[in-house]
Amino acid sequence: MPPLASAGEGHWNDLNQDAIVLGLLIEFAEDFVSGQVLCDKLDVPRAELLKRIDSLRTRGYVIQASGGRGYRLSQIPDVLGEAQVAPLLANGELGRHIHAFAELESTNDEAHRLAEAGALHGEVVIAEEQTKGRGRKGRSWLAPKGLGLTMSVILRPVLPPQRAPELTIVAAVAVCEAVRELGAVHARIKWPNDLECGGHKLAGLLTELRAENDRIRHAILGIGLNVSVKPDDFPEELRDRATSLLIETGNKTPRPLVCASLLEHLEEWLNLHETEGFAAVAERWRELSSTLGLRVRIHAESSSFEGEAVDLDADGALLVKDDQGSVQRVVAADIEHLRQG
Ligand code: BTN
Repeated sequence: MPPLASAGEGHWNDLNQDAIVLGLLIEFAEDFVSGQVLCDKLDVPRAELLKRIDSLRTRGYVIQASGGRGYRLSQIPDVLGEAQVAPLLANGELGRHIHAFAELESTNDEAHRLAEAGALHGEVVIAEEQTKGRGRKGRSWLAPKGLGLTMSVILRPVLPPQRAPELTIVAAVAVCEAVRELGAVHARIKWPNDLECGGHKLAGLLTELRAENDRIRHAILGIGLNVSVKPDDFPEELRDRATSLLIETGNKTPRPLVCASLLEHLEEWLNLHETEGFAAVAERWRELSSTLGLRVRIHAESSSFEGEAVDLDADGALLVKDDQGSVQRVVAADIEHLRQG
């Protein structure tokens, strides 16, 4: 299936100019901002400003114009294409190219394919609908069409493969910060890969690797986030276990904003991870965790046990004190929250 939108040659300059205009309009929020102020800030003549306003309007941004008062942004489109997301991004590496599709089996599969074909760190795959969305441990990820964000980010981290679990922790912190900023203020991280609000799942992460010897060729970070899903839109079996940004905040947040916010927080936390190491990320994870301090049941491959989740280990494993008082390292397992430890 062809991409819905993709960047052409020489397209980035225009997008960057659009991004600056949009940034200013967003900054002024409910207020009108005068054309003169916009021209001064951009250092462009009025004709160029009008081109940028037109360009944003063709991407679905609704911009009111008032003779005496200037311009005001009154609507952000709820369409997930590069044209809608790129103007909201700062000039980082994540989202440098967004491959947007109406339908894919799985954005993670497409991201692997693109990465094998040479796609760069930070390229992103988004789909309005997945027909075989994957969760952890071979489960499926179900998301009603057009109401969620199903996205995969291609990463090329300079890390040995055994440190890959750190990426899921980095991503969980970034996604948690982003959704809190978007109004889901009670969001917390359930180890290892869930974002939840009051025990209801808001988002899931799926990190997959292609590695050789001691090197990660690429990692794909898959993020599934329920954005504008109402309780009745969830399949029956998920209804009392899932939530969405809409349910948590009462507001419908345009998905390009959600996407840009996730990418910006992800970029920030990946940079911190690279420059300051995992300990800095783990510190924030501890503050955002809903798992630490709880009595938990661990379902591993061949056994299960109960205990208290006491800490995160230096490599992202969960440390659980069992009923005999020994601290067990849990690397890959399903975890059930029971009650306060
Ligand atoms: C989980 O909760 O087990 C992880 C869910 C991850 C779902 C996302 S949606 C985008 C990406 N593509 C997939 O097929 N899966 C991930």
